[in-house]
Amino acid sequence: MITKKIFGNPIATYAVTKNVPETRELKYFSLETTKGTLRFTCNLTPKELVYGLGETMGRVNKRGGRYISFNTDTADHTDSNPSLYASHNLLLFPDRGFGVFFDTPGKVTFEIDYKNSGMVLVLCETENLTLYQMENDNIYALNREFLAAIGAAYLPPLWAFGYGQSRFGYKCEADFLEVADRYQKAGIPLDYICMDIDYMDRYIDFTVHPQRFPDLKAFVDTMKARGIRLVPIVDAGIKVEPGNPVYEEGVKNNHFCRNKDGGLFQAGVWPGMTHFPDFLRPETRKWFGEQYRFYTERGIEGFWNDMNEPAIFYSEYTKGPRKLGFVLDILFPKARKAKKERDLIRDYQSFYHQVDGKSVCHYDVHNLYGANMTRASSEGLETLMNKRFLLFSRSSYIGAGRYGGIWTGDNSSTWEHLKLNLRHMASVNMCGFLYSGADTGGFMGNCSRELLLRWLAVSVFTPLMRNHSSMGTRNQEAYQFGDPEAFRSIISLRYRLLPYLYSEYMKAALGNDLFIKPLSYLFPKDEKVRHIEDQLMVGCSIMMTPIIEEGKVERTVYVPEFMTMVHYDGKDFTCTPCQPGEMTIHAELNEVVFFIRENRLVPIGKPITNSREVDFENLQLLGDGRRYALYADDGTSRECSLEKVIILEKNFSK
Ligand code: NOJ
Repeated sequence: MITKKIFGNPIATYAVTKNVPETRELKYFSLETTKGTLRFTCNLTPKELVYGLGETMGRVNKRGGRYISFNTDTADHTDSNPSLYASHNLLLFPDRGFGVFFDTPGKVTFEIDYKNSGMVLVLCETENLTLYQMENDNIYALNREFLAAIGAAYLPPLWAFGYGQSRFGYKCEADFLEVADRYQKAGIPLDYICMDIDYMDRYIDFTVHPQRFPDLKAFVDTMKARGIRLVPIVDAGIKVEPGNPVYEEGVKNNHFCRNKDGGLFQAGVWPGMTHFPDFLRPETRKWFGEQYRFYTERGIEGFWNDMNEPAIFYSEYTKGPRKLGFVLDILFPKARKAKKERDLIRDYQSFYHQVDGKSVCHYDVHNLYGANMTRASSEGLETLMNKRFLLFSRSSYIGAGRYGGIWTGDNSSTWEHLKLNLRHMASVNMCGFLYSGADTGGFMGNCSRELLLRWLAVSVFTPLMRNHSSMGTRNQEAYQFGDPEAFRSIISLRYRLLPYLYSEYMKAALGNDLFIKPLSYLFPKDEKVRHIEDQLMVGCSIMMTPIIEEGKVERTVYVPEFMTMVHYDGKDFTCTPCQPGEMTIHAELNEVVFFIRENRLVPIGKPITNSREVDFENLQLLGDGRRYALYADDGTSRECSLEKVIILEKNFSK
């Protein structure tokens, strides 16, 4: 049961799409109001779990942390950093059977048993808020009800479940060809290569570097013929440059955010000074979405939206190094330190959006910016393309999961961030971001062979499986670490699992379910699973149990019911029935061990090297179940419905 309580006159965020009855009652929390703030508190019982908050630091159980919803471009993914790129203001209280969504686009601070306070404090910097209150003793059911209220999750094409390679620094056709060739030569599957800002002409959106890509359309076609799609990045800011048609049109038709005095706001990002499209205006979303025609006309079918917090390197208030067109502060961390948060806040306070004809300060709606860029591109692509597209964004707000996926930004090549990847997957799914993943191998720093293999073995189970790294770090492609056999082995598992992963994703998205969930959702009465955050349920049959410690080939797994242990070595799947309880599993770097729930099945495909070879008809069924409900389709058409599910029966006599 969901109800909403409205405070003041909130701006529509479009996070919740379903009609929800209104109530006057404030449940679960006490409230104190002061001018400009709403301060909610509630006591916690000593051991209860608190879930939610999507893409934040900390654990899946959010107790002990302080988190601030204020979308930030930050590579500091440590527990002392309260804000990442997203704002997902959902709190779930599994032990008391309720949940609350604080729907407000401004800054919100959450302290959850912070410094052992024994309470939850939620401080909203606004008097205008829609508070969604939900009740259900079964937290999994409650969470699904919430997902139904925010609307069905984005549906990617089948190829988006393939493995992708990316790197900040691939510059020209030859770089992309080399990646494709070397993957092919190593016999490692690949479905797409991301194009970072270097493909552009001087980092300007909706352009392509004329010498590096003399005929992008032809190049896209050549790569597609090899089964490899190109996925360009699009940044939020439009370069201020007379002669740039997107800039000129944006100025002429009033699409950019303005200063208080009515002039156009300017901020320095990758291309130098830019204007920010006012994505909160429907007309601007439509206009921006239409710009993607530049790519779709050239045969491109996938995109990643970046820098949409929006990130600002320098401006009138944020003094970074002023080198137009080449930004040093990312490359030289010392210069970056000169940028102070205080200045960024002043930036955000100094420009305005038009919402329903009224001027609204960016600071008050800050957390909606990236979400509306995703909406603009997604709605644009729906009109430009007659099939499904890949789209994922860095910044987000709850509700944006209807329009596209997310990736979790600039992590590092550390074991800690591999663990964070797992925790994020559980939490962002609670908030409706089903298509998600981290930079596999880590963005900053140098990845080791062992870390990349273990990270790939985690990413095998996340919808977005993309290896991405920053320029200046060691080359991180799977063929860069000597003998590729182990990489071939791990990535081949992804492709053998594609029928399962795709089917489970589509059923989850079409059925208001999570794709990845914590064990406690399925075994709520089992005390032992409450604090397990390194084993996750993937779809309805698989429990993933990755090895995420350096130098280890074994780990302890808690098996909550009779399950089938599956050991994959790159060729064969060896299945062993397991009793409930603790056990030790063993997986060398080229191996993966996962579990299948009792009475469930997992369809496995034949070995393939590209998603176009997926064969939904010749499947092997692993596990002790009798039936599997398979969702299968052509992988691209828009007509997706649960009616496409067919039942596969396991023939035990074989
Ligand atoms: C920041 C993004 O998070 C990163 O993935 C990308 O490589 C750089 N921008 C350059 O575009």
